[in-house]
Amino acid sequence: MILIGCDHGGYELGREVAKHLEEKGLEYKVYGSEKGESVDYPDVAKEVCTRLLAGEGEKAILICGTGIGISIAANKIKGMRAALCGDCYSAKYTRLHNDANALCMGGRVTGAGLALEIVDTFLSTGFEGGRHQRRIDKIAELEA
Ligand code: RB5
Repeated sequence: MILIGCDHGGYELGREVAKHLEEKGLEYKVYGSEKGESVDYPDVAKEVCTRLLAGEGEKAILICGTGIGISIAANKIKGMRAALCGDCYSAKYTRLHNDANALCMGGRVTGAGLALEIVDTFLSTGFEGGRHQRRIDKIAELEA
């Protein structure tokens, strides 16, 4: 289960991502702006991340206009490792090295074609573990 959250700035790309996951036969739920109406991205981040950390989903995809506000908000929540990505290399390595549990994108920044490749890379790449686990443990210590 993939949890998608969008504010109004991420509404259109969020729909593209949902359609893409649908076509791939992946389960998803969408939260936040339902018809493009204005909503506050911290509220969307809170709802989606709380649900993710409660085990309702495997990964989150968070989209606002730039991707920045929603990633800042998500990373305030203990247990979140939300990565703002605008390229496939970052999406790959944030999974391999950071075990990111949320992908953030900017709906007004990244075009749908690239965004869907970023989504595919993020969802299909596993965590490498090893020395990277030690570093993630140190991030968790910063939350304490
Ligand atoms: C909303 O206008 C916009 O500020 C928001 O989507 C996002 O870009 C914030 O970081």
